[in-house]
Amino acid sequence: MKKHILVLTYSQTGQTDDIAGQIIKPFLDSDNFEIHYEKLKPKVPYPFPWSGLEFFDAFPETVQEVPMELQADTIPEHVKWDLILVGYQPWFLSVCRPVNSFLQSEKAKQIFNGTPVVTFLGCRNMFVNAQEKMKRRLHGLNARLVGQIALVDKSANLVSLVTILAWMLKGVREGFLGIFPRSGVSEQETMGAEKFGRIIRNRLELGNYEGMQDELLAEGAMEIKPSLLIMESRGAKNFRFWARFVSAKGGSGNPARFGRLRLFMVILPSAIVILTPITTILKWIVSMVKRKHLLAEAEYYKSIRFRGYDL
Ligand SMILES: Cc1cc2nc3c(=O)[nH]c(=O)nc-3n(C[C@H](O)[C@H](O)[C@H](O)COP(=O)(O)O)c2cc1C
Repeated sequence: MKKHILVLTYSQTGQTDDIAGQIIKPFLDSDNFEIHYEKLKPKVPYPFPWSGLEFFDAFPETVQEVPMELQADTIPEHVKWDLILVGYQPWFLSVCRPVNSFLQSEKAKQIFNGTPVVTFLGCRNMFVNAQEKMKRRLHGLNARLVGQIALVDKSANLVSLVTILAWMLKGVREGFLGIFPRSGVSEQETMGAEKFGRIIRNRLELGNYEGMQDELLAEGAMEIKPSLLIMESRGAKNFRFWARFVSAKGGSGNPARFGRLRLFMVILPSAIVILTPITTILKWIVSMVKRKHLLAEAEYYKSIRFRGYDL
């Protein structure tokens, strides 16, 4: 009997879809699999490249997980999916709004219930909080999370901060000035995602996902840096405050909130620049004092376990 696989993605520049293309490669050379590839689309598309204000205007509702209207999907009705692959990006340490909106839909309730799910993402370098939010959504849908993959930009934190802004706000992904590299997940890492697909295919055929996450991790499905974990945990708490502070002045696109948004636009990059060296030193101290705790935390975040709260 054919296995039915649903691939669900949202991708602005195509990075997530490139990763998806590699993961599903091992399924394509066999008639045993039927794949439906669904690219989610917001009813009102996000701009690309973004203006600074548009980019930050997406912040409060993304963090607060407010669902947005999506275009009608083309997912066939009455199919019992054997596996769902969800490709998304972290936006402001949360699940990007189009994917998060779909996960809150009635359709999601039908298709995820009891279904094995593998999530994958491509991002700059901070994904742990978004991944926990994703776990929480899947848990609420009674889905069975069996694997998760996170590919990141391997450049230093401040370097990737500059290059992601050039990419998102100017549309420049390639390297520039001779010192800044190409932004995003490297081509090599993207192409390498096929190996994860082989593991997933094998497990789907066996009908046994026990220990699959460890197998994916052994192949480099995810790395968690304690320094970024410290930074992300601070960021996630501050983001909740800022999202409330900005949205108190009005909803998405409301000029009444632009003053507060502009303040956030200055504070956020400054905080990253200031906090990067501080957290590097802090990491050094914390990792000596709380080494065991930090390692245990990183192990938990890499796992498919769900303990029920965010960072
Ligand atoms: C609004 C917005 C917020 C983002 N926030 C984060 C973030 O918190 N952490 C991160 O590592 N990357 C962040 N990114 C980068 C994305 O995760 C992703 O790498 C990029 O959008 C390209 O993916 P795509 O082409 O598949 O859409 C953000 C991108 C956007 C557009």
